[in-house]
Amino acid sequence: MEKKNLVAVFSASGVTRRVGQKIAEIINADYLEIVPEEIYTKDDLNWMNKRSRSSVEMSDPAARPAIRNRVENMQDYDTVIIGFPIWWGIAPRIIETFLESYDFSGKTIAPFCTSGGSGVGRSDIELHKNVSADVNWVKGVKINRPDETAIRRWLQDVL
Ligand SMILES: Cc1cc2nc3c(=O)[nH]c(=O)nc-3n(C[C@H](O)[C@H](O)[C@H](O)COP(=O)(O)O)c2cc1C
Repeated sequence: MEKKNLVAVFSASGVTRRVGQKIAEIINADYLEIVPEEIYTKDDLNWMNKRSRSSVEMSDPAARPAIRNRVENMQDYDTVIIGFPIWWGIAPRIIETFLESYDFSGKTIAPFCTSGGSGVGRSDIELHKNVSADVNWVKGVKINRPDETAIRRWLQDVL
């Protein structure tokens, strides 16, 4: 049977979405937008304000912002590529909500991020802790633009 791939993306301002959609197009994967129950406003995203929603969530390792939508056929996918922006050096907490919402046993998971400069950093290692041990975890990368050459190069390690 042909392998089935999913690209799942959380994007607050569109940068990660553009890269994720390009990846899905290149590999003919299904595309899923991880939609927060409560959409992040501009004020929520203000990293200059210690009390903004994103600052509060990122300073609390136990924060798990709710997700509005759900994949009903996760069992059908062999590979799940997960895209997110870097917030405070790591993945937004909603990515942990996503990883804890499904059984990824036996699947390949490949994370990518976009950022203002930071690499995927320790988010890669930290996220890995959220899934079962038999997940084939591909080392995460930063892909800031929907650049087909960079995407294809990385995909050689993934698929
Ligand atoms: C709350 C918040 C925290 C951020 N922290 C970082 C950071 O630590 N390092 C970095 O390089 N960029 C940081 N950024 C910038 C984003 O990672 C970058 O703009 C990303 O491409 C946005 O993706 P999106 O449009 O898909 O949401 C931060 C952005 C926000 C909103």
